Amino acid sequence: MTNEDLVADILRLKQERHAVILAHSYQRPEIQDIADFVGDSLALARAAQQAACDVIVFCGVHFMAETACILNPSRRVLLPDLQAACSLEASCPAEELAAFLEANREKNYYVVAYVNCSIGVKALADVIVTSGNSQRIIETAPADRPILFVPDQNLGAWTARKTGREMTLWNGACHVHQRFTRDQVLAAKQAHPEAEVVCHPECQELIRLLADHICSTEKMIAYCRESAARQFIIVTETGILHRLRKLVPDKEFFPVELGVCGCAECEYMKLNTLEKLRNCLRDLAPEVRVPEELRLRAAKPLERMLELSK
Ligand code: 13P
Ligand code: SF4
Repeated sequence: MTNEDLVADILRLKQERHAVILAHSYQRPEIQDIADFVGDSLALARAAQQAACDVIVFCGVHFMAETACILNPSRRVLLPDLQAACSLEASCPAEELAAFLEANREKNYYVVAYVNCSIGVKALADVIVTSGNSQRIIETAPADRPILFVPDQNLGAWTARKTGREMTLWNGACHVHQRFTRDQVLAAKQAHPEAEVVCHPECQELIRLLADHICSTEKMIAYCRESAARQFIIVTETGILHRLRKLVPDKEFFPVELGVCGCAECEYMKLNTLEKLRNCLRDLAPEVRVPEELRLRAAKPLERMLELSK
């Protein structure tokens, strides 16, 4: 079956199922092209909350589909491949966070959780952030409580520096962003001396220090469009390059070469394919479901975030 046949099937099934397809910017180009909405974690959470349909097909990773279930419980949420996990989510098991909070009860931490975490971690958090709104949310955190930021130490450290707010950081990281080395970014700069370096805050500080601009995937589009530069080295998962080239066609975008590893790809994001997307619309499975008691607890900090980042 060709991609054209699959696309025709998907469009027909989407109508029959009264479904919307939401896709993260790290998805394969052919999935981004067929989606009703492509965005970063923040924009996708908003889109999921507002989706007026029977079925949400979430082309992203598991925690994103779970977030859609939490925010819009009356919809059926499908994930084309249930194995689409996230190393950041895995770096902070809910039981470990609960044990840490119990052992440090006297500190009365204000728990800020990056959206890349499980529903169990969200349920333990006071507020959720994304890479697109972490500064804004931290600025609203109570001044009289110490902050515990989970699970991404890099986003946490960057947000702490930007806001001047001290935080205890969980020792988690994304394996894709952790892979970039200083030498690789310097080699990209040497190959494209006119290019600006734009990097995601999930990158380590030694990489962030080489960047002209640091922001979430969504903000990269506006930044590159408005910058006077004509060329950009993009230091994040390569899926965003498709979107940048499509939306800012008069400029050039380069990934960072990682030697024998090629470029930075999230193997979990790439698990979703057109065929699996067609199959899940056809079979209405795999479906992501969450226990109602946990959903209610996780909804509070998520809704707080959406309210604060309006
Ligand atoms: P944003 O979509 O918020 O930029 O986050 C990137 C990411 O790694 C999502 O998994
Ligand atoms: Fe998780 Fe990193 Fe993949 Fe994003 S790129 S889904 S943070 S493993």
